[in-house]
Amino acid sequence: MTAKALGDIPDHRPLIPRDPPAVGLIGAGAIARSAHLPAYRAWGVPVVAVASRDAADARALAADFAITRVHSTVEELLADPAVAVVDLATGPRGRIDLIEAAVSAGKHVLAQKPLTIDEADMPRLAEIVAGARARGLRLAVNQNARWAPAWRLATLLVRGGAIGEVVGITHLHDKPLPPLASTPFDAVPHMLLADYLVHWIDISRCWLEGARVDAVWASESRVPQQPASACNPWNADVRFRTDRGATAVVRIVGDSRATGGGCPFWIHGTEGTLRGSVLRGSDQLELDRDGDVTTFAVEGQWFPDGFAGAMGELLSAVVSDREPENSLAHVLATARLGFAAVASAEEDGAPVHPHDLLLTRATSESVVTP
Ligand SMILES: NC(=O)c1ccc[n+]([C@@H]2O[C@H](COP(=O)([O-])OP(=O)(O)OC[C@H]3O[C@@H](n4cnc5c(N)ncnc54)[C@H](O)[C@@H]3O)[C@@H](O)[C@H]2O)c1
Repeated sequence: MTAKALGDIPDHRPLIPRDPPAVGLIGAGAIARSAHLPAYRAWGVPVVAVASRDAADARALAADFAITRVHSTVEELLADPAVAVVDLATGPRGRIDLIEAAVSAGKHVLAQKPLTIDEADMPRLAEIVAGARARGLRLAVNQNARWAPAWRLATLLVRGGAIGEVVGITHLHDKPLPPLASTPFDAVPHMLLADYLVHWIDISRCWLEGARVDAVWASESRVPQQPASACNPWNADVRFRTDRGATAVVRIVGDSRATGGGCPFWIHGTEGTLRGSVLRGSDQLELDRDGDVTTFAVEGQWFPDGFAGAMGELLSAVVSDREPENSLAHVLATARLGFAAVASAEEDGAPVHPHDLLLTRATSESVVTP
């Protein structure tokens, strides 16, 4: 067994540029308060203004996080010349209108996930990407789990060839679900597949970058003793396969009764295996290769550090005039995988064969395929 310290491994921490562009926040709800702003405060992201549907919420948030400007409307924030980057911490309904309005106002955008829960939005999203590119604006999606420390380090190691070609990815959700019954999630059909699991689907496609998806399967069920008040099924299984024969599997058994655990994952490759876990303080990663197991010093947690990672990548991209890894164009393929999973679940797990679903590389300009 070998242990590797932080200085000996790829740097998986959030990267905030030296002179970051100023951020204006739209939405003053749970995730803005519990994750966006704590992460930005810890990592030095300047938030100069906030607006929300309910101005009282915006004022309360501004007071708690020392944000100097509270705008009474979204339009006012978008017209604020001090705001260069708009951080959308709103739910999926109406968010595409907000992305479009921010682009019209000349702002770069980080939009919360899921990018969309309606497949009919895809052509419009492709148009928005093209319009933003024409104006030199950067659009990104808050796929903050890409910067969950153990997942980020795994991404860097996979890219660096540490396990050869990826053969199979396995995720197990070994923890309770967040509260779902009687929340806005009740209104999202196939909520686990369409919204909650987007992070697991997204990170899996990042580890299979460059491949083409040839089949997607998914199934859902209500589990024993699931309360009638919980509208969506609590069991969900998703699997996809690439044209190279590699597979990815994500499994939520239901609302697990577990005090420990987290979300363990395995990435099996042609030359080695990465084993790790995220969430609930379980964050860890090890590489099993050539008869030795190397454990890595993983620094930080998905919540909130991942949120600084996602924003930091956009800010770095703006400063360096390049596509961010989490560009909206890149995340379109993640959205397509989610829609294929929902379509399969609606056919009780029958395979869906997406047309030309290429898992573009995050490091290059992403191809827009609506
Ligand atoms: N790990 C993650 O990335 C993560 C975790 C939890 C939630 N989320 C996502 O974050 C989003 C928000 O979740 P939440 O729990 O904070 O919801 P929430 O309902 O608590 O907060 C949403 C906020 O946005 C405001 N808002 C909504 N539409 C608006 C509009 N058109 N103009 C101005 N303000 C508007 C609301 O008033 C509210 O303040 C969801 O898409 C959710 O899926 C992401």
